[in-house]
Amino acid sequence: MNTTTTDRTAPIGIFDSGVGGLTVLKEILELLPFENFVYFGDVGRTPYGGRSKEIITQFTKQDIAFLNEQKVKFIICACNTASSTALPDICKDYDIEIIGVIEPGAKAAVKQTQNGKIGVIGTNATINSNAYASYMHAIDPKLKVFSLACPLFVPLVEEGYIDKEATYLIARDYLQTMKDVGIDTLVLGCTHYPLLRNVITDIMGDSVRLIDSGEESANESFRRITTTELIHPNGSQVPSPEGDLKYFVSDVPEKFSSVASRFMGREINNIARVDISKY
Ligand code: DGL
Repeated sequence: MNTTTTDRTAPIGIFDSGVGGLTVLKEILELLPFENFVYFGDVGRTPYGGRSKEIITQFTKQDIAFLNEQKVKFIICACNTASSTALPDICKDYDIEIIGVIEPGAKAAVKQTQNGKIGVIGTNATINSNAYASYMHAIDPKLKVFSLACPLFVPLVEEGYIDKEATYLIARDYLQTMKDVGIDTLVLGCTHYPLLRNVITDIMGDSVRLIDSGEESANESFRRITTTELIHPNGSQVPSPEGDLKYFVSDVPEKFSSVASRFMGREINNIARVDISKY
């Protein structure tokens, strides 16, 4: 990538299949409050997690094309499903730097484990891609990686079923095998799962360390942006002025705003609708 010609005042683009990527936006906003951001949530076509690789790849390319049109300087793919299933094949086709959530989450888990047994939970597509296990085994082939799809977690979170008895029942059922095999580290390999952190900790116990791949990828993006020529010039001002935040979605904004406010812990207003089929 030619960073010397990049406009450092350009926004950072973040995309996800819907609202979930806001958990990543929230993390990175704390680290880079002076940057401008464009968030795209593909709420009209969410969820991606149960779809085929072909469709997920097509959607991911359109999401990236939209962000490129916004003239972003760096792209974060916050969606685990897109990061695991589409990005490895298409990343090389772009000049702009695109970071996914899998590698940072995998690296953090490998660093964390003491007993070499790591659990990974995610959507069906993420688990079927085997992307987390592949990255981990590339670092250490001796690791034992146990992967499990938990498809009911996404709708539970979107419906606000965060700490209800039904959520505990389903989570206990899903996670029992992870307890049985004795993992000491569990990767939350889906944008929505950090919202179930308390439920998962109650079930797995305090001795199992949870890795939030969204948080890890925000940290990795921070490192990449601050160590390259990409950082916004306002970052060197003290105090630095706050950047702009624009939200775009592929369905009516009202559908997005209430769930988004819960994810971000604040009111979300300036949301515009995009016809993503044009890209
Ligand atoms: N954002 C997706 C992920 O992180 C979860 C929702 C979906 O299935 O689209 O995998």
